[in-house]
Amino acid sequence: MPSKELRIGIVGYGFMGRTHTNGYKRANDFFDLEYRPVLKAACGRSEDKTKAFADQWGYESVETDWQKLIERDDIDAIDICTPNDTHHDIAIAAAKAGKMVLCEKPLARTVAEAQEMVDVINETGVKNTCWYNYRRVPAVTLAKKIIDTGKLGRIFHFRGQFLQDWTIDANLPQGGAALWRLDVAAAGSGVTGDLLAHNIDTAMWLNGAITRVTARTETFIKERTHQLTGEKQAVGIDDACIFICDFENGSLGNFESTRYARGHKALDTFEINGEHASIRWDLHDLNRFEFFDHSDESTVRGWRSIHVTDGDMPYMDKWWVPGLCIGYEHTFVHQVADFLKDLETGAVTQPDFNNALQTQKVCEAVLESGKDGQWHDTGVTL
Ligand SMILES: NC(=O)c1ccc[n+]([C@@H]2O[C@H](COP(=O)([O-])OP(=O)(O)OC[C@H]3O[C@@H](n4cnc5c(N)ncnc54)[C@H](O)[C@@H]3O)[C@@H](O)[C@H]2O)c1
Repeated sequence: MPSKELRIGIVGYGFMGRTHTNGYKRANDFFDLEYRPVLKAACGRSEDKTKAFADQWGYESVETDWQKLIERDDIDAIDICTPNDTHHDIAIAAAKAGKMVLCEKPLARTVAEAQEMVDVINETGVKNTCWYNYRRVPAVTLAKKIIDTGKLGRIFHFRGQFLQDWTIDANLPQGGAALWRLDVAAAGSGVTGDLLAHNIDTAMWLNGAITRVTARTETFIKERTHQLTGEKQAVGIDDACIFICDFENGSLGNFESTRYARGHKALDTFEINGEHASIRWDLHDLNRFEFFDHSDESTVRGWRSIHVTDGDMPYMDKWWVPGLCIGYEHTFVHQVADFLKDLETGAVTQPDFNNALQTQKVCEAVLESGKDGQWHDTGVTL
């Protein structure tokens, strides 16, 4: 039985507010942990909406100002589930108040913001993590384990994609509730910070540092009405981004993301090609990865489709029986469970803020290159 409480104050009750809360509620049902999250308070600007969320999901109380939430003595950890322009101020205030900080990705809008967050985390020493949840898809975690054995041999290529199609309509407004991702002031960037950040985090986790990049970005719809002001305004985000890069290990990378790929909703993929073997994965079929091993006998050699549901595969001993799938929401349960286990052991939960800062550096180098067409060093240190 868990004997220790981790009292959560969550800011934001939208998409991520729900996924994280589901993680807090489920983790102890499936994982054997000393700590148990307690849903102390939910914070949002609208009292009615925050109260409705708190009632539905089981939070004990409500705040309408995140500063008040941070001042409370009965909160141990602040979970930031708000748009990107709020991450910096909330995280820094929370860390200065001695709270643990769990922050959604991207860590911030810019490297400057992210670096300030890391500096305060380092000064205060509070426990922290950034929710790059795709690391905790069991198939992706297993790919990491296989790559780390060296089984693939020398790595030549890494490619990643994140394709969507929800902003093709030129009449879609920008800004405000549900559409803050289109407003550069709130989001910091378009697909680069929102989608490619996931690919970059996965890529550097699996294949090491990205050292330099060159990119092409495009904004297809140049003006949109702002939802809050009703004014037509220039669109400041990148609607699409393609970049190529060098990894520190000598391999080449290419990445593509867009919200204009008609038919694609969340096609997040990666493929890694080594001297001896290759692995590829696709979020739309997240319980599987494909594996090609050149050392197989030639007559039966081919891409194997591996169903990652057996008990000796990452996280899967905690769920059902071999052959039965889990889904997207489980990645957040896993991140909560790992965070709680690391509280017990004192281990650093990855990605921590410093690691998420490295992804931010790649994003910024990509965006800079999108502007000037030049190669940019990333300055990543892993
Ligand atoms: N890890 C992932 O896969 C993933 C997926 C989606 C979003 N995200 C990230 O999570 C964050 C939130 O995205 P979302 O999709 O949940 O957005 P959302 O629009 O669904 O929810 C945002 C929430 O923040 C609240 N909010 C906005 N400003 C606030 C403020 N000043 N004070 C208090 N509450 C405020 C809104 O009312 C809303 O409840 C973003 O940083 C986003 O990039 C991560």
